[in-house]
Amino acid sequence: TIVSTRQMLQDAQTNHYAVPAFNIHNLETFQVVVDTAKEMGSPVIIAVTPSTIEYARGEYVVAMANVAARNTKTPVAIHLDHFEEISNIKQAIDIGFRSCMIDASKDILSKNIAIVKEVVAYAHRYDTTVEAELGKLVGIEDDLVVDERESIYTNPADAVKFVAATNIDSLAVAIGTAHGLYKGEPKLDFDRLKEIRAQIDIPLVLHGASDVPDELVKKAILFGICKVNVATDLKIPFSNAVKKFFLENPKANDPRKYMTPGKEAMRAVVTHKIKVCGSLNRY
Ligand code: 13P
Ligand code: ZN
Ligand code: NA
Repeated sequence: TIVSTRQMLQDAQTNHYAVPAFNIHNLETFQVVVDTAKEMGSPVIIAVTPSTIEYARGEYVVAMANVAARNTKTPVAIHLDHFEEISNIKQAIDIGFRSCMIDASKDILSKNIAIVKEVVAYAHRYDTTVEAELGKLVGIEDDLVVDERESIYTNPADAVKFVAATNIDSLAVAIGTAHGLYKGEPKLDFDRLKEIRAQIDIPLVLHGASDVPDELVKKAILFGICKVNVATDLKIPFSNAVKKFFLENPKANDPRKYMTPGKEAMRAVVTHKIKVCGSLNRY
């Protein structure tokens, strides 16, 4: 059965590690993430954005997750990442998703609360966990583009209000990470993270973890992050390996041949990220 992220994030919070959430796009990337996580005994969250649902189609993702969940002790969840339309979330829950993020972070606090509450009311009826974001991350995540001037760090007092008003299961915080790559080294506001952690008892989520130095991600986990989102750091090595294969084999036309180096390059990064999260050998 397809599980929510409740149990896995609770275990991560209790035992001070993070569950990695990897964005996938197709069969190949789904398999690399799930196979690697299972081999390492790491709980894993498969994240799909609205444009991935459009591309890969929701029913196929659910079908792959059902196969992945068979005969394994390793918890595998499929998660709706950065969904902004309530109707799309409801549709995805209806076909089997049990974890979602409603991203109304671009709205003012009162509107963000109202939207999130509606999602929670529906999701909790189906034992589906809900993540929401307070503050705003800069950068590009598929169709979501946020300019640097619009970035807002999470306010701890607002976060307390937000969690109490919405009854969400996890909170995505804005503490200085951004979607995609950075110009220099990102500066993370660990004091802010500690303050939020001290006042809130639900799992905290770090978006934009690609291109953040490992030591900073580990420090964020030490200070209370329980879920680490990675997208760009998987896309780049996959596509680079495929490009290299075509340069060396310009006549190649067999997907089983030209996709394989992409899968292998991605597998190495997934393995590394699981180690950074400290989630290996948990199940
Ligand atoms: P990165 O692309 O920076 O890893 O961000 C991923 C993310 O936050 C997915 O929600
Ligand atoms: Zn994100
Ligand atoms: Na990033």
